[in-house]
Amino acid sequence: MGYLRVALQYTLTDVELKLLPRGFERIGHVAIVSIPCGLQHKIKDIARALLNTKGVRTVALREGTISGRSRRPSVRVIGGDSSTETVHHENSCNFKLDVAKVMFSSGNLYERARLPKLVRDGEVVLDMFAGVGQFSIPVAKHAKPNKVYAVELNPIAYRYLCENVKINHVGHIVKPLLGDCVEAAPRGVADRVIMGLLHVTHRYLPLALEVLKPNGGVIHYHESVPSKIRFERPVKRLLGVVVGREVKILQKRVVKRYAPGVDHVVVDARVGPVIR
Ligand SMILES: C[S@@+](CC[C@H](N)C(=O)[O-])C[C@H]1O[C@@H](n2cnc3c(N)ncnc32)[C@H](O)[C@@H]1O
Repeated sequence: MGYLRVALQYTLTDVELKLLPRGFERIGHVAIVSIPCGLQHKIKDIARALLNTKGVRTVALREGTISGRSRRPSVRVIGGDSSTETVHHENSCNFKLDVAKVMFSSGNLYERARLPKLVRDGEVVLDMFAGVGQFSIPVAKHAKPNKVYAVELNPIAYRYLCENVKINHVGHIVKPLLGDCVEAAPRGVADRVIMGLLHVTHRYLPLALEVLKPNGGVIHYHESVPSKIRFERPVKRLLGVVVGREVKILQKRVVKRYAPGVDHVVVDARVGPVIR
């Protein structure tokens, strides 16, 4: 039985208990929960129960989807401290962020831990959609890259990215760049490109090829995709863009379930040298 069910077993009816979400997201001191319509009148009880969880000082309700190009979340505080700015500790990294202003997915935890293990000593890495440094920081901390270029469009996320570079002491490795990666990303510099974006990632595949060194390198390509074609579509898109160069699919994995019938997947592909 989930934590909320146990905590609220004497407060809610059996019908209401069945409507409770199975879990909640925890980012720093903030617990974020989705509550279905049938339980909206019990919001205060749910918030109170979550505030009894160790380390939780704020409870926020996820109200809608993450929106827009800047991926701004839609959350509202329903209990505890009104502050949604927090420091999330994970895998020996600290991520400072405001959960009401920028996106951070706890479901990507394994991917954030996996990526640094793939980076070879001395590589140049380019993180095209850096957010608050979800990939750039662990790569700089746990691998030995020469440089990590971290490009971010949203000025709020960029401010946290810069702060996270400082608090994690990786300023000698990570270079944050503010702007649209189409303009801000340096070309021909990277051994490895991280494409941690969903919905429109494929539009940036031609840019990823430009960003790689002429000798080629590795692309970590993320996509949200119907489960039935979970690897077929991203692989097809990758192969469709790389013309006249060798491509080797290194790994395909589901990062998390994104929505019913939709997966968030990542495909790692090695692209060979430019053939002249
Ligand atoms: C969904 S968040 C993901 C952050 C991180 N890569 C991860 O996977 O956890 C995507 C980030 O990319 C940024 N972004 C979207 N389009 C961009 C673009 N064209 N150039 C640079 N950053 C962009 C958004 O502002 C947002 O912070």
